This record gives sequence, C-alpha cells and structure tokens, in this order.
Amino acid sequence: MSIRRFITVRYLQWVVWVSVSLYWCFIIIQSAATDVFDWHLAITETGNVAWIMLVFTIYISLLQKLFRPYWLFNNLLPLRKHTGILSFLVACSHALLQMLRMGIIADAPAMLKAAFSLQYSMVFGTVSILIMVPLFITSTNRAMARMGYSTWKMLQRFAHLAFIVAAIHISFIGYFGGRGVEPEPLILLAVYAGGYAYLFVQRRQG
Ligand code: HEM
Repeated sequence: MSIRRFITVRYLQWVVWVSVSLYWCFIIIQSAATDVFDWHLAITETGNVAWIMLVFTIYISLLQKLFRPYWLFNNLLPLRKHTGILSFLVACSHALLQMLRMGIIADAPAMLKAAFSLQYSMVFGTVSILIMVPLFITSTNRAMARMGYSTWKMLQRFAHLAFIVAAIHISFIGYFGGRGVEPEPLILLAVYAGGYAYLFVQRRQG
C-alpha cells in the first residue's frame, strides 16, 4: 500500500490538531510542575508552537510553487488552513499568558498599553495577531463561498504580512531588553524573500 494515500490532509489534519493540543497541555503542565509557575517556559514554548505553525503555513505555499510536480508538497498544501488556525489560537494563548504574568488581565487599558509597547517587542506580536483575526474569521468554506474566491484569496495573502511581523517580534525580543537580535527568524525571512524573488523572475522570463 502506498504511503501517499496517508500523507493527505484527511489524515494529517487530525495528527496536527491532536499533537498541537497535547503539546499545549504538556507545556502548561510542565510550567506548573515547579513551586512557582514558570511563565518564561510557558510563554516561550507557546510562542515557539505558534511560530512553527506559521512558518509551515507560509513555507508550504512557497515549496509547492517552487517544486510543483513533487507530490509531497501538493498533498501537504491544504494542511496550511489548519496550521494557520492553530497558529492564531496558540498565539492568542501565548499573549494571554503574558498578560496573566504581568497581572493585568482584568485591566483593559494596561493590557492595551503593554500589547503595543516595545517591551519584549510585543507590539509586533500584537500586530501579527491582529492581521490574523480576519483570516481566522474567514477560514471556513462558507466564508469563502460568501466572499467569492478571488476576494477571499486576496485576504488570505495577508498571512504573509503576519509572518513578516511575527519574525520581527521574535528577532527583536532580546534587542529591546538590551540583548542581541535573534538571527533565525530573519534567516527564514531572507530565504522566503529569495524564494519569491526567484519565482517572480521565472514568471517574468517565461
Ligand atoms: C503570531 C504572533 C506571535 C508569535 C508567532 C510569537 C512567537 C514568539 C516566540 C517564538 C517567542 C520566543 C522567542 C525566544 O525564544 O526568545 C516569543 C516570546 C515572547 N512573546 Fe510572542 N509571539 C506572538 C505574539 C505575541 C503577543 C501578541 C505578545 C504579547 C502581547 C507576545 C509576547 C511575548 C513575550 C513577552 C515573549 C518573551 C517571553 C520571555 O522571554 O519570557 N507575543 N513569542
């Protein structure tokens, strides 16, 4: 029996949803296992999960365009809907944990002030989540049918902007705290920009 039959969104969506949900529970349990709740662990790990989901969402489209005949990327492409939704939900929990850590969860003005501050470069994280809100709301087939495919597709392209702003958030967390810049997200951004620049040149030539 061919493995290709199982590497499809039909099966993998369950694997992704169950794995991310279980890992999210594991992060919270692990953070609560010490005498004092380990906020740093909980926030960093949920941030990492949200980031991995977002990177997959963006990179799978790029890989599918670059290696069109290759079956694996074609099969994995529809999974981006699920990874995009998961990225948004986990990022919301990540931001909520930070507000709980700061003890301002019931104070809306303080939450807004923190969310749009440069501390931990939170403003970029907040902008990324705000960009994802309309994408999350319109992620259903019904919303797509109501909006029409081309308008819906145009809106979904904002996921690229959410990815760029999230990369800035992660890279500059240390910078605004007096530490250095984290290079990995910027490297991922550069590879992404290189990939799309290559596709652009190819399209113009042919
Ligand atoms: C799509 C949105 C977001 C993504 C993908 C994301 C991702 C991440 C990642 C990967 C880290 C860990 C960086 C490291 O290892 O140094 C992180 C840290 C952090 N994020 Fe986000 N984040 C997002 C949105 C937000 C928002 C909205 C807030 C708060 C308003 C926030 C607050 C923080 C804070 C405070 C830390 C540092 C935690 C610490 O060092 O103790 N993030 N984020």
